[in-house]
Formats: sequence, C-alpha cells, structure tokens
Amino acid sequence: VDPSKTDFDAWMRARQQRTEQVLEALLPPAAVLPVRLHQAMRYAVLGGGKRVRPLLAFAAGEVSDAALERVDRVAAAVEFIHAYSLVHDDLPCMDDDVLRRGRPTCHIAFDEATALLVGDALQSLAFQVLSDPMLGSEPRAQVDMLHTLAIAAGSRGMAGGQAIDLGSTGEELTLPELENMHIHKTGALIRAAIVLGGWCGNSLPAADLAHLDRFAKCAGLAFQVVDDVLDAESDTDTLGKTAGKDARQAKATYVTTLGLARARAFASELREDALGALGGFGPRAARLRELIEFIVLRTH
Ligand code: IPE
Ligand code: IPE
Ligand code: MG
Ligand code: MG
Ligand code: MG
Repeated sequence: VDPSKTDFDAWMRARQQRTEQVLEALLPPAAVLPVRLHQAMRYAVLGGGKRVRPLLAFAAGEVSDAALERVDRVAAAVEFIHAYSLVHDDLPCMDDDVLRRGRPTCHIAFDEATALLVGDALQSLAFQVLSDPMLGSEPRAQVDMLHTLAIAAGSRGMAGGQAIDLGSTGEELTLPELENMHIHKTGALIRAAIVLGGWCGNSLPAADLAHLDRFAKCAGLAFQVVDDVLDAESDTDTLGKTAGKDARQAKATYVTTLGLARARAFASELREDALGALGGFGPRAARLRELIEFIVLRTH
C-alpha cells in the first residue's frame, strides 16, 4: 500500500465527515416549520455525495494556511448551491432523473413543487451562510467572496451552463462549444470552491492566485469530462444515478464528440495542465495534487 495514498484517504474521509457535520448544523432542523420543505432540503443535501467541492475548498485553504472554521462555511455555501443544482437538474423539465446518490431524486421522494422550493431555499441558504459575520473575514473580502459565488451560480455561470445544456440537447456541438458549456455548468462552481478556499487564509500574491485559478479551471472542466465518460462507461449501481442517460437523451458530451478513449485522454491532459499550474507551490498544494488525481481517476 502506498502510504501517501492512505494518508490522502484518511484526510478525505476526515474532511468529508467534517463537511457533513457543518452542513447538518447549518440546515434548518427537520422539525421546524415548514416541515416538509425542511425535510426535503435535508434529504437533498445530507447523507450522500462525494463532497468534491468542499474537499477542493479545504485543499485550496491549505495553500493559504486558512483556518478550518472559515473554510467550513465557504465549503458549505458552495455545496448548498451544488445540491440545489442537482435537485433542479433532476426535475422532469430538465434531465428527468429518478435516481441520485443511490436514492430516489428529491422530486420523487417528495414532489416537484417541493423540489423546486428546495432549490430556491438552498440557494438562499448558501448566501446566508457566506454573508454571516461568523465567517470572520474582512468585510471587503467577504463581499468579494459573495460576488464570486453569485457569478459562479448565475446566468454567466452554472445556471447559464445548464441553459446551454438544455438548448443543445439533440445537437452536435463543436469542441469549443462543448468546452464552453462544461466550464459554465460544472466548471464555474468548482472554480469558485477553489478560489474561495484559497481566499480564506493569508492573502496570496497575485501570481499565486493566478496559478490557483488556472488549476481551478482545469479541475472544473476535467470533472465534467469524467462525468460524461462515467455516464457512458459505468453502471447505475456504481454511479448511484442512472447510467447511459446522456446517450438516451441525446446530450452533447465529450463522449459523443470525441469518443470514450479521446475523452479519457483529454481528462488526463487537463490533469497534467492542472498539476503544471501548481508547480511553484511545493508541499502546500499536496492535497490539490491528490484531488485532481481523484477527480480524473474516480469511478463514480
Ligand atoms: C454531479 O456532481 C453533477 C455534476 C456537476 C457533474 P458530483 O459528481 O459532484 O455529485 P455528488 O455531489 O458527488 O453526488
Ligand atoms: C449537471 O450535469 C451539471 C449541474 C449543474 C447539476 P449532468 O446533468 O451531467 O449531471 P448528472 O450526470 O445528472 O449528475
Ligand atoms: Mg444535466
Ligand atoms: Mg443530469
Ligand atoms: Mg452527467
């Protein structure tokens, strides 16, 4: 057994557990009115998910020697937006999925109107958490974080990417069009997780921030390329979501455009680019290096 691998696994599990506790504490209790909405919000967020965006925020926080308590909130804010995006992505009017994280999707376990409101409420909760004075950042820095997350989630970020996805279903996209869709629908939020995590600690020199951002862009795109590959290559049990859906719904993906082998090769190229961006950081970026490996080699 590679000891550094064991060490990474232990780090990952510890941060995932920490994230779970933070999310749990920040969500309204299930017994608080309106009970059904709060139950559905907790259902959509808790007890599943790889927590890749929080992990990336923690790993970026190590680059700037950030306090874990501050990264906790940034990670939770990003994960709330992510969970909301999944609930809406699964709705019948979007991807129409019945399985997510190995369980019925939110609108199946509850109902469509509740799932819609879960998304609305989780998005607000994200900004509530990030704007809380408990974050303990300089007010100006906190406003910058809010601004960055708002852009990443909005029509020039995730929501815009989802619009491109819906608009291009059944179409063939060129590689630049495909890249544009992916860096918005998935890349924007992953990039925000890393950049915000990096901002949680000591203020980094501009060159370091630029390198971190370059890593973040590569990681975000790589993540969705691998999601496309797994949809085509894996099975429903392993994924915890319905496999083969992209082909069935005639989605434009890296697999339809490049084929499986070249899509995988592209993900590896992005990993190399991402690692290249971290060259100057030394051991501070060890977790980021391990995470890009995890993103590209994951099986679900
Ligand atoms: C799935 O994201 C949707 C995409 C943006 C590709 P994840 O693969 O991070 O889903 P969870 O959070 O682990 O379930
Ligand atoms: C979703 O992409 C990206 C989001 C913003 C949620 P997909 O539609 O491919 O995600 P999965 O495969 O359903 O998780
Ligand atoms: Mg989708
Ligand atoms: Mg989907
Ligand atoms: Mg997918």
